[in-house]
Formats: sequence, structure tokens, C-alpha cells
Amino acid sequence: MKVRKAVLPVAGLGTRFLPATKASPKEMLPMVDKPVIQYVVEEARLSGIEQVIMVTGRGKRAIEDHFDTSYELESLLEKKGDHKLLREMRAISNLISFCFVRQNEALGLGHAILCAKEVVGNEPFAVMLGDVIMDSDKPALKQVLDIHYRFKGPVIAVEEVEQSEVSHYGIIRPETLEDGVYKILDMVEKPKPEEAPSNLCISGRYVLPPEIFGLLEQAAPGSIGEIQLTDALKALVGMGPVYGCRVEGRVYDTGSKLGFLQATVELALKNPEFGDDFRNYLKGLKL
Ligand code: UTP
Repeated sequence: MKVRKAVLPVAGLGTRFLPATKASPKEMLPMVDKPVIQYVVEEARLSGIEQVIMVTGRGKRAIEDHFDTSYELESLLEKKGDHKLLREMRAISNLISFCFVRQNEALGLGHAILCAKEVVGNEPFAVMLGDVIMDSDKPALKQVLDIHYRFKGPVIAVEEVEQSEVSHYGIIRPETLEDGVYKILDMVEKPKPEEAPSNLCISGRYVLPPEIFGLLEQAAPGSIGEIQLTDALKALVGMGPVYGCRVEGRVYDTGSKLGFLQATVELALKNPEFGDDFRNYLKGLKL
């Protein structure tokens, strides 16, 4: 069955990026020349997704407005005769079909996904974290979807991290099936480096069956009342094979200040318009 829908949870509070995120969504921070979230939506479209379901929350209106038609702006650009910019603005709202649902309290990633239950319905769907940019030749979600179609089961994108860094992530216990493809035997949240079952971390793209909603409904809220996706994924592993797909490309967690800066520098260097000038500028810095 074709995966048609992608859920993009963007209702998190973004506390790691305060004060920048006090009144503006982290997903709308400009990454080189467009907001972070636009990279994720473009990846969805290039991966063959037909509908993006955004789970938004308080203070996230700017995301809806960004993907909506802006009549005032369009008529102004038309009057000014700036047809190039006008085309670019129209292309953003025509990227893909959008649907917005609201998470009225930030009760965790698992809870955010659960908010999309009615709109997703009874079919497999993708989940893409709205603050994770994946820069790759073949769109990252497409890589994950290809494994889903081949192995006919849920797939989670994974990425290799330094052994010393594993305690920041959800880490899988893998059984290698082929280069870059794993059967996930278990998952551990933020293990100590010496106890980590691998250095493969869960990294922001998933293809999940509709059964995940029942598992999320059963998941007990943690100490701060949040429903964690990892708990439901662990239960899913107990029900049948779940696969890991090592994504080829660069993964940036733009929800962290350092990740955001790394993405900005590396993506700016690749920009066809000013990448070379930026490289020369960086070379001139006395580091
Ligand atoms: P994060 O772990 O980045 O949490 O969420 P956060 O709350 O957004 O940011 P910090 O940790 O406070 O800085 C991972 C993804 O899940 C979404 C976020 O928007 C992000 O895309 N999320 C998280 C929700 O949609 N709702 C939530 O209640 C929590």
C-alpha cells in the first residue's frame, strides 16, 4: 500500500533554543534562505508524499501562514512586476496538500502523533520531525520508504553517532540484514556509552502502521506527563519485525543551537548563489 501521508509534529516548545523560540516557532527560523520547515516539506514532496499533516500548537501560527496563499503579498509583487519572486511565493503554497491539526498541550512527541489519528485513518504513514533537516542526494524519507516497500514493515531512520555521544539519543539494538539495513531488536533511551547496544541512533524519519495509534493510547505518560513515541515503538517491536534504515546523507538537529549553526554553515557553503563567496569569507577568518 502506497504511503500517501506524512505527519509533521511541530508543536514542541523548543526550550533548547530559548530565547529565540519564546515567541516564534523554531521551525520558522531561517536556514540560509528559507525556514527550516520548508526543507522538511520539500523532502516529503520529493519522496512522493501526497499530504502533509502538521501537528501544530500554541504560538505556531506562522507555520500555517507560511504555507498559505498570501494575497496581499502576491498582489503587491504583481503590481511591482516582480514575476520571479511572485512565482517563488506561489510555489510554496502549491508544494503539497496540507492539513493542520492542533495539539492543545505539549504532551510529548507520542501525543502529538496521536493527534493526527483521525486524519491518517487506517493506512501506513510517515512521520518527519519538523526540526530535523536531512540533506542527501536521494531524499531521506524516500530511502526509508524504499526499505518499507521492500521489507513490508515499519521502518525507522537511524544514523551513526560517536560512541561518546550515545547518551544524548535513542539507540537501537540492531541485527544487520544487509549494509545499512537492520532488524531492530530493542531500543534504549539515552544509554551510558558502556551500556549502549550500538552507536545507531533514531533520527527523525519513520514509516509506521496505523496500529501505532492503539499503542500510543496505551502508553503510560512519563514523569512529566508526556507520551513518548519510543514506548510505543518498543511495543511495536514486540508485535513483529521493525526495520532500521541507515540514511545516507547529513542529518541536522536544528532544534539545538549547535545543530542549527552546523546546518547553516554547511548548507550555505552548498548554496549556488553565494556558496563560493561564503567559503572565501570563512577562509579569511583567523580561526
Ligand atoms: P523535541 O525533542 O525537539 O522537543 O521534539 P521540543 O519540545 O520541540 O524542543 P525542546 O527539547 O524543548 O528544545 C521532537 C519533535 O516533536 C515535536 C517537536 O515539535 C519536534 O518536531 N513535539 C514535541 C510536538 O509536536 N509536541 C510535543 O509535545 C513535543
